[in-house]
Amino acid sequence: MEKVKVGIVGLGRLGSCHAKNIAFKIANATLVAACSVRSEEREFAKRELDVSECYDDFKEMVTKADIDAVVIVSSSNFHNEHIRIAMEAGKHVFTDKPLGLNMEECLDSQELINKHNDQIFMIGYMRRYDPTYMYVKKKIQEGAIGKPFAVRCTSIDPEDTIDGAIAYAETSGGLFRDMTVHDIDLARWFLEDEPETVYTVGGAYVHKEFEKMNDADNACAIMKFKNGGFASFYSGRDALHGYHIETEIIGPKGMFRIGAVPQKNLSMIFNENGAVQECVSYFPERFAEAYLNEMQEFIDCVQNGRTPGVGAVDGVEGMRVAYAMTKAFKTGHVEKIDV
Ligand SMILES: NC(=O)c1ccc[n+]([C@@H]2O[C@H](COP(=O)([O-])OP(=O)(O)OC[C@H]3O[C@@H](n4cnc5c(N)ncnc54)[C@H](O)[C@@H]3O)[C@@H](O)[C@H]2O)c1
Repeated sequence: MEKVKVGIVGLGRLGSCHAKNIAFKIANATLVAACSVRSEEREFAKRELDVSECYDDFKEMVTKADIDAVVIVSSSNFHNEHIRIAMEAGKHVFTDKPLGLNMEECLDSQELINKHNDQIFMIGYMRRYDPTYMYVKKKIQEGAIGKPFAVRCTSIDPEDTIDGAIAYAETSGGLFRDMTVHDIDLARWFLEDEPETVYTVGGAYVHKEFEKMNDADNACAIMKFKNGGFASFYSGRDALHGYHIETEIIGPKGMFRIGAVPQKNLSMIFNENGAVQECVSYFPERFAEAYLNEMQEFIDCVQNGRTPGVGAVDGVEGMRVAYAMTKAFKTGHVEKIDV
């Protein structure tokens, strides 16, 4: 296969970022087709990305367009359906998280993917492709801190995106399934183990709207892993300083800390407020390289028939843990991860 011919569905916040990467930054891919239910996004694809084939119906794109692979960045409630259509049409599939809106849909997607195991499948847990996380993973594999036994994650969305978070909360699955799921993936990846039990506390302390939806704006969970390790998670929605993603991986010979100050770059302003470091604004800025790297990896895997390092099992297990975390938040009990 010379260049991988790609069709993308979803050109919203994240879809437009993936689409630009495929169109302009990935040499061995070509963006042949795009699908969105929003006409202005189809116009954007034609005008800005030079995509000649634009569709408002996903099945039509998959049937008619001359494509090898599909990139799914539609709203989460369509992922299961879109995975099914693409897999059954014989396409290679990259989907952003999640595999489905609930556990049943995730398991259904996994079954479909396993049934078509001659086609490449990858899920978008992009933090694994961030240069710093990749560096730390490699150092740990080389023995830098011994075998890690603990992971501590902090993820706080910026306060200035709160209106969208409130509007999106009913369909996103809530704080744990939508946001903390990325940290859960990191904890599983660094500890190379699966969690067993979880305990969650939290509430709607700043934005009462989340209370009505049985959701939280600030929460903390602690989790015990099967081989004795543990992880803790602090997730929030109201960082005034920017987009705060911080991770600590602790082993017997030391620890790594990633992103303690979510700095925009290496500059610092010295003024009447002191020594001020600007912070990254949100996920497209913080993880720009990660989104590009993960898409490059998917395209390379399609071209070379290689299996990506992150697949359906990670989508299912991450979601299983996020469900148990949500259940623990609602019951106030320690919950087994067996949903
Ligand atoms: N990995 C990450 O860091 C990350 C970050 C943000 C979003 N996401 C995931 O990406 C997905 C998209 O999120 P977003 O923030 O870009 O959403 P968005 O609302 O900005 O965009 C959704 C897109 O999907 C399209 N769409 C929806 N239903 C469709 C259908 N039936 N057929 C064709 N197109 C359809 C819309 O037209 C729009 O282009 C979500 O599943 C979300 O969980 C992942």
